[in-house]
Amino acid sequence: MSSTFPLKGKKIIIGVTGSIAAYKSAELVRLLVKEGTMVRVVMTCSATTFISPLTLSVLSKSDVISEINANEHWNNHVELGLWADLMIIAPCTANTLSKMANGLCDNMLLATYLSAKCPVVVAPAMDLDMYKHPSTKQNINTLVKYKNHVLNAPKGELASGLHGEGRMQEPSDIVAWASSFLSGKQLFKNKHFLITAGPTYEAIDPVRYIGNHSSGKMGFALAEEAAKQGAKVTLISGPVALEIQHPNIQRIDVVSADQMFKACKKHFKKADVLIKSAAVADFKPQVAKTNKIKTKKNLTITLDENQDILKYLGTKKTKKQFIVGFALESQSGETFAKEKIKKKNLDLIVLNSLKDKGAGFGHNTNKVTLIDSSFKSKKLPLMAKSKVAKYILSAISDCIL
Ligand code: PMT
Repeated sequence: MSSTFPLKGKKIIIGVTGSIAAYKSAELVRLLVKEGTMVRVVMTCSATTFISPLTLSVLSKSDVISEINANEHWNNHVELGLWADLMIIAPCTANTLSKMANGLCDNMLLATYLSAKCPVVVAPAMDLDMYKHPSTKQNINTLVKYKNHVLNAPKGELASGLHGEGRMQEPSDIVAWASSFLSGKQLFKNKHFLITAGPTYEAIDPVRYIGNHSSGKMGFALAEEAAKQGAKVTLISGPVALEIQHPNIQRIDVVSADQMFKACKKHFKKADVLIKSAAVADFKPQVAKTNKIKTKKNLTITLDENQDILKYLGTKKTKKQFIVGFALESQSGETFAKEKIKKKNLDLIVLNSLKDKGAGFGHNTNKVTLIDSSFKSKKLPLMAKSKVAKYILSAISDCIL
């Protein structure tokens, strides 16, 4: 029963805080109850000005708690904290994030959070500048450090009329997350993944570099998915503008191919699976000038070849390790990808083409072909990089589990 309907019979606390997105908590509660979940709702005082406790009480079929001083309810936070299998705080304002990160306890929701013995997941909702603010980022990092799960707040139209990051995840996505989390489908629970993402920058002088257009989205999607499926992940990332959310991901930032090589060598031994989705610069200037090169008509830069990190690690691979490479091609993709499998001693390669619309660099989508070491290939249609990540992990689990 529990694997087909992972939410059935589960006990979930929904914490609601004072954001306009509070209206979505009604849908969240409704969806969970429909799945057979037992739901209790705890609201902050300001949340009650956005959505009525009566609405959430009717939908959850239970009393809603919002005050800490109600005579018979003063210690409900302890009882709730012990009762629940999961606490979801959605929407979570910048104010509540900050209080959670600092251990404040001036309302029933915070008291419940501090008492909760179950995993806690937070779905932030706020305006884009508030979401971007370093203090918010720091509070999110603190919560992740405390082993909470923080969902990202995707881009979209915000209540302020602005467009950007800060929207609460859709209730159906939160339910899907909870379902996957509680399903116990932690396939890679005892596995360690080493994943690389993003570009590398090779300095020409203190101002300029050789780089490429990788955004890191593919590698980050893989890291998030592997962590969701229970893996411990070391993510080595070149310079990207992305945040990582999952507490099981250790992120190591690097800039150049040499730095990525060094970090990969250090972490490869303990990895069960290596996924090399980074776009490593193949060349670096022989000398990185210490002073800015003055403008001139002609400039010759002598380039040295960078270490092929994947090829090197392929030579060090043990029987217990599984290596996934990527191939970014613009022509004869399958032929080149198969050559790379042999040359770099890979178990699987993910081929994407610069010729396919919506695939490769920068997009939220990708179109890939998975080719294994016996050259069996599986072409996938264009889909979100998060979904591509699921397919890649499923191909890995078919081989190693
Ligand atoms: O980051 P995004 O914007 O989401 O874009 C995703 C992506 C296009 C970067 C990704 O899907 C991808 O294709 N990554 C690999 C890009 C690449 O460098 O491909 P390649 O065919 O040149 O290299 C083959 C493999 O060797 C890759 O796994 C690469 O990481 C590795 N390599 C390459 C050169 C080098 N010096 N060291 C390496 O380890």
